[in-house]
Amino acid sequence: MTLRLIEGGRAHGDAPGLLIHGASQIATLAGGIRRGTSQGDLALLDAADAGGPGAPGAPVVAIWDGRVVAVGPRDAVEVAVEGGGMPLARFARLDADGGVVTPGLVDPHTHLLFAGSREGELVLRQRGAGYLEILDAGGGILSTVAATRAATEEELAAHGRRWLDEMLRHGVTTIEAKSGYGLDLQTELRLLQVAHELGAEGPIDIVPTYLGAHAVPPEYRSRPAGVEAYVRSVIEEQLPGVAAQGRALSCDVFCEQGVFSADQSRRILQAAAGYGMAVRLHADELAPSGGAELAAELGALSADHLHVPSDEGLAALAEAANGDHPTVATLLPGTTWFLMTDEPAPARRFIDAGVPIALGTDFNPGTSPNPNLPLVMTIACLEMGLSPAEALAAVTVNSAHAAGLGEQAGALEPGKLGDLVVWRARSVGELPYWVGADLVDVVIKRGRIVHRRPD
Ligand code: NIG
Ligand code: FE
Repeated sequence: MTLRLIEGGRAHGDAPGLLIHGASQIATLAGGIRRGTSQGDLALLDAADAGGPGAPGAPVVAIWDGRVVAVGPRDAVEVAVEGGGMPLARFARLDADGGVVTPGLVDPHTHLLFAGSREGELVLRQRGAGYLEILDAGGGILSTVAATRAATEEELAAHGRRWLDEMLRHGVTTIEAKSGYGLDLQTELRLLQVAHELGAEGPIDIVPTYLGAHAVPPEYRSRPAGVEAYVRSVIEEQLPGVAAQGRALSCDVFCEQGVFSADQSRRILQAAAGYGMAVRLHADELAPSGGAELAAELGALSADHLHVPSDEGLAALAEAANGDHPTVATLLPGTTWFLMTDEPAPARRFIDAGVPIALGTDFNPGTSPNPNLPLVMTIACLEMGLSPAEALAAVTVNSAHAAGLGEQAGALEPGKLGDLVVWRARSVGELPYWVGADLVDVVIKRGRIVHRRPD
């Protein structure tokens, strides 16, 4: 399913055009979703092949009215835009100064909006406490729920702006953002409304996701058959309200042993699909729970975490990957790293099976208080054996598909949004190599400079 981005409210500055030249390399990621042997295909244009970044045939990107109109050798692109009714004189120029250019990064899995923080759990886990054990004792997600219910719309928006700014500085121009720290209709609607408004405010585009089934809220925990009662309230009360509000573009469920079963997840996600929402899942994060199988069965945009999928789940995703709209395996290695988990997700098995891989931060206050997507690329290379090129495809073209925006974002090709990053690097291999470093020079969103490294 392809989602529609929020349009409007964006000025493009005085010049309708922007020409980015002087790059050492442009990783275009053109050509659609990557899977299997193409996972690491960057569709790379290298200035060295043309005689250097300043040569007439060196690669450039042309953006007009917020969208990419041409990518390729400078001399050819200049002729093409003039011939297409876009006078060269109306293009502002940006010199990449020998840096690498990539599409703006897309973070396909964040829990952007919440209140408070949970640094105490780090220490508890160091002493041996388990993630679900902390949740069952009323901590974890539930402590964030209490803080979030008490927060005003303005407080949530201020928090969101702070972390969006941090993401932008790391080269991110689009994110998916889940609700899920309200667990009652009123607070879930507040979170979705704030996510929508922050996206409309820009510069980062936001795909709001309803995650009412993130945990069973305290008021249901003490009831007999409380989990089932809460599932019914999600289906019968929350989902109709969320659909009427119209802000959520997709619906997610924490499908996990001891949280929501595959059967309960199916009922929730089928109801969401009935309202026209795309579906996605937290699948097989802590134990094989039927999540990967369910994602494939429902044609989900993405199955996320997949730390411990069953063989059947992996086979089901591989089968789905043969179709036109494969379910993307969105892996979150920053989370397993932060949770000090021994084994990483089996990324190479997914790639070998032809399943497209995306990477996300899973930004949230419990398991991944990390807004830095390039750092996740590094962790993916070190812990899961992805190559730097595979990791770059996983945070651009594939993560755009996971977010539901594969037709609009994640690649530099005509018709896509003019979202790109100029990096202080000479080759794409440097991006995950400089661990935790801030390599971002300039961020362009819809053809406008929205972040520039201070001189
Ligand atoms: O993706 N697994 C469930 N949800 C989040 C964690 C949320 C939290 O601990 O606050 C995750 O890891
Ligand atoms: Fe998550």
